[in-house]
Amino acid sequence: MQKTLKDLFVDEIKDLYNAEKQLTKALPQMSKKATSEELKEAFEKHLKETEKQITRLEQVFNELELTPKGKKCEAMEGLIKEGKGLMEEIDKSDTLDAALIAAAQKVEHYEIASYGTVRTYAEQLNFSKAEELLQETLEEESAANEKLTELAMKINIEAAGGVEK
Ligand SMILES: [Fe+2]
Repeated sequence: MQKTLKDLFVDEIKDLYNAEKQLTKALPQMSKKATSEELKEAFEKHLKETEKQITRLEQVFNELELTPKGKKCEAMEGLIKEGKGLMEEIDKSDTLDAALIAAAQKVEHYEIASYGTVRTYAEQLNFSKAEELLQETLEEESAANEKLTELAMKINIEAAGGVEK
């Protein structure tokens, strides 16, 4: 099949659109499972950001003159499934928080890779509004990931044996 860069761009946007929608369903469950107040807040904040990111993707579809439509993101489905599997196996709250952070960071890294790619495609294809919107989301995802790293530093110490607390 002869695919152009624009075809790849559209495929990736559809993948992200579906991935973000899957995440809006998973984040409330993750927040509910989290023990740390700060971690709960981080998940809730990221849920609001994710909703904005979905709107931005819809604006990208607009610039491409396409109706917003997702294509099942198998990767996000797998990441969420793996995270859920972990949660079911753990009872200890600090350890559960550590596992939630790990699952969330895998999601963020997947998104950072994807948004970095589509941002660059948009730049190369001269979709300047899309480039701007995707860059904005990329920065939000990076910030969310950094926040999780910061929380992991605190929470994982507690999970390791309660040095702090
Ligand atoms: Fe996102």
